[in-house]
Amino acid sequence: QAPRDLEIGSAVWGARDLVGHDKRHPTQHQRVLAREFGSLTPENDMKWAEVHPEPGVYDFTGADAVVDFARAHGQEVRGHTLLWHSQNPQWVLDAAESWTCEEARDVLEDHVRTVVGRYAGEIYEWDVANEIIQDDWDVGGVRLRTEANPFLRACADDPVALIGDTFRWAHEADPQARLFLNDYNAEGINEKTDAYYALAQELLDDGVPLHGFGAQGHLSLMYDFDPSMQANFERFAALGLDVAVTEADVRVPIEPGADGPTPEQVALHAERHDAMLQACLNVLSCTSFTVWGFPDARSWVPDVFPGEDWATIFEDDYSPKPAHAAMLASL
Ligand code: XIL
Repeated sequence: QAPRDLEIGSAVWGARDLVGHDKRHPTQHQRVLAREFGSLTPENDMKWAEVHPEPGVYDFTGADAVVDFARAHGQEVRGHTLLWHSQNPQWVLDAAESWTCEEARDVLEDHVRTVVGRYAGEIYEWDVANEIIQDDWDVGGVRLRTEANPFLRACADDPVALIGDTFRWAHEADPQARLFLNDYNAEGINEKTDAYYALAQELLDDGVPLHGFGAQGHLSLMYDFDPSMQANFERFAALGLDVAVTEADVRVPIEPGADGPTPEQVALHAERHDAMLQACLNVLSCTSFTVWGFPDARSWVPDVFPGEDWATIFEDDYSPKPAHAAMLASL
């Protein structure tokens, strides 16, 4: 456990790895999860497609498994996520084709109140809105994701009002939870985080219960580290917000034919993890630092980024990598 109030967490896929958990006979994965981390984020289990597969039908199997495991081990839970353009069930995508804003709002409100309400008092931070600003390389450049996100699309006339109300519904359902905006490519100061900074100010001016800004922390050794991460966190903290690193991993491009990273890559993989942790440690309002699952065999990276791997801090035999030692030394 870190000094001050910093939680060190990991993502875990409850439906895959925790259902049927028996405290007396844990799997190796469960043992490491319990031993190393004070906070858990359901990697998929609280997303729309998992938790709300049909209209009016909720399935909390995986989400409950995460919350139960956390309770059994004295861990905190970060909720993830309520308003996102990805991993929405087919029925939402179909219905959205003809949604009015009013209809979209009703569906979202029911979902937010149901899911947040179920775990009221058990979740310390919620990623309420995920990836709602697109990148400069997306069509139309940096702006709210009013095409890909079916809810924002239906309410494209005033998407900020919908975002604000989503936070209000979540706050009513669980007044204790700290409510976050969350995104990738949001570590340093850039055009996207400038847009988040403006959005956060607008929401706060409107009295919206926004409490935090999360940088996912999905890095790759293919790109340089942006040293403005701490300064970026500081400017959000100056708005009165908490900040967090919510999904840290560092992808390593593996040469075809190589059976692992080079020693230089191993060192850089540790250095990048530690740099993100340092940015968090140096900002008092940084409340949590979460890695996006382990070991590499369970990581989302090889599926989504061909040619990149070795992104997590544990080897497949659960031995800790140098990144683990580097971060421990900083805590
Ligand atoms: C990823 C999960 O890790 C995968 O298992 C799933 O197939 C796709 O989503 N940003 C986010 C996370 O906010 O929810 C994503 O998680 C990774 C990128």
